[in-house]
Amino acid sequence: MFTLENYKESANVIKELTNGFRPEVLLILGSGLGYLGDSIEDAISIDYFSIPQFKVSTAPGHHGKLICGMLEGKRVALMQGRFHYYEGYSLEEIAYPVRVMHLLGAHTLIVTNAAGCINEKWSAGELMLIQDHIKFFIDSPLRGQNINAFGVRFPDSTHIYTPRLQQIALAEAENFDIPLRKGVYFYFPGPQYETPSEIRAARLLGGDAAGMSTVPEVIAASHCGMEVLGFSLLTNMASGILDKPLTEEEVLLASEAAKPKFSCLVCACLRKI
Ligand code: HPA
Repeated sequence: MFTLENYKESANVIKELTNGFRPEVLLILGSGLGYLGDSIEDAISIDYFSIPQFKVSTAPGHHGKLICGMLEGKRVALMQGRFHYYEGYSLEEIAYPVRVMHLLGAHTLIVTNAAGCINEKWSAGELMLIQDHIKFFIDSPLRGQNINAFGVRFPDSTHIYTPRLQQIALAEAENFDIPLRKGVYFYFPGPQYETPSEIRAARLLGGDAAGMSTVPEVIAASHCGMEVLGFSLLTNMASGILDKPLTEEEVLLASEAAKPKFSCLVCACLRKI
């Protein structure tokens, strides 16, 4: 269990290493969008291992650097590399950086991920605005003694994905002619892709996309009052929909192909929030 002191110590180290930088927006960008870190102006890059309690990210393409600076006119902190449950971390550890960034002043979280497409009417390669999520498989990042400085013991989850930011995302997608689906993200533990029966069950329960990230960070952000905007890139049809096995290569190729439209949409939203 982390204490408020742990979070404050990490925040102070970042403050010192960045000469007092105060981020407005935290960007946690999966699905190959971490390269947006290279576009940050006046960038200060910090290795995760220099920050107390930060973990090392072991997933492919996840670098382990926090980059602070200006992007699209906003003070941002961008995590190049995030933590996943399948790497062996607890949900509290996965969500840790969100609370640290909140202490430094971040009021908004923008999060992206790669996901399998559960909705049979949609196709691989499409983008989805996350309107809600379903998390059944494990406890919460908020489990354990509540830290009142972050939020209440029993936080509301009615509008975790901020409606105002969803409106901005839909308007910007239209502006830039980027097709954007709206749907529900179903959180799975991984690292194995789901079975066809798990995907059928998730569909019956209302899931549109299946993925292994995002939800712990989003719950922690919402708990401490941050606004949240989330997108999934549907890199593949989820297990059992097509008669072929799922591979990491397929996911990485689809992420690469979608980079231009996905980064355009994220940057447009960043400008407008
Ligand atoms: N399932 C879970 N996570 C994923 C998938 C999937 O099909 N594709 C990309 N990330």
